[in-house]
Amino acid sequence: MTSSLDGRVAFISGAGHGIGKAAAIAMARLGATIGVNDLKEEFVQETVAAVEAAGGRAIPLAQDVSTREGMRAAVLRLASEAGRLDIHVNNAAWVRYQPLAEITPEVMDRMVEIGFKSVIWGIQAAAEAMDAERGGSIINVASIAAVRSPARSVVYSGIKAGVVGITRAAAADLGARGIRVNAVAPGAVPTEGTAKHRNVELDARRIARTPLGRLGTVEDIADAICFLAGDASRFVNADVIHLDGGASQTSLG
Ligand SMILES: NC(=O)c1ccc[n+]([C@@H]2O[C@H](COP(=O)([O-])OP(=O)(O)OC[C@H]3O[C@@H](n4cnc5c(N)ncnc54)[C@H](O)[C@@H]3O)[C@@H](O)[C@H]2O)c1
Repeated sequence: MTSSLDGRVAFISGAGHGIGKAAAIAMARLGATIGVNDLKEEFVQETVAAVEAAGGRAIPLAQDVSTREGMRAAVLRLASEAGRLDIHVNNAAWVRYQPLAEITPEVMDRMVEIGFKSVIWGIQAAAEAMDAERGGSIINVASIAAVRSPARSVVYSGIKAGVVGITRAAAADLGARGIRVNAVAPGAVPTEGTAKHRNVELDARRIARTPLGRLGTVEDIADAICFLAGDASRFVNADVIHLDGGASQTSLG
């Protein structure tokens, strides 16, 4: 079901680690040129090297994309250097879990800036850069926390539910221009970002309530992003693909 992405250009925010890095490698293997965004030059360079090792082409875009200016600068630079933009993935996040009573304005603001606002700035910039005739595909990384919210995740779950709403509303706005907007909603996936939030007991409980009996991998998520990026999903729009082995939609009793 995965289409060739030959000749396409894809922007991925937060591609220095985890799911974003895996998506960069997977899309590059399908032929796309990847705009590799992350906060720090060293993170970006690691993914650029991994994309090139996989035989792909990458353009480094070290930039904080939590602001409108930062996101727009990075996206337009890619479109200018690569000559076009076809795929945009809003993946970057900064995540903290806090008990309700301990949520602080500083942590909430930072999470909202990168997890929520930057998704809107990303869609806005991508829509500006995408060709009026060819259109494009925008993929937002939500979470199953939007439908099955863990403890201490009021800000995170709220943001990810918001990302689902943004996805649907942006699809309504951009469909007439041939721009599709979809989301993936991963369950628990071991990454650099989640290492500090996971432990053996928690993983075992998650696996026990997952019909497929394992945690997700970054490649599981990257492959679904590739599907949404390419022509095989050409009539999929305003949708959310849950990528959690069935955990959020079932009860194993
Ligand atoms: N891993 C999981 O279990 C899981 C589950 C559900 C959803 N998600 C979502 O998937 C996405 C990726 O998660 P991950 O686990 O791979 O994360 P990660 O922490 O491993 O990687 C995120 C990357 O985003 C970058 N980043 C943070 N702020 C940025 C900014 N302002 N500008 C540019 N880059 C920035 C970080 O430097 C980091 O490299 C996130 O949206 C996350 O909420 C992850």
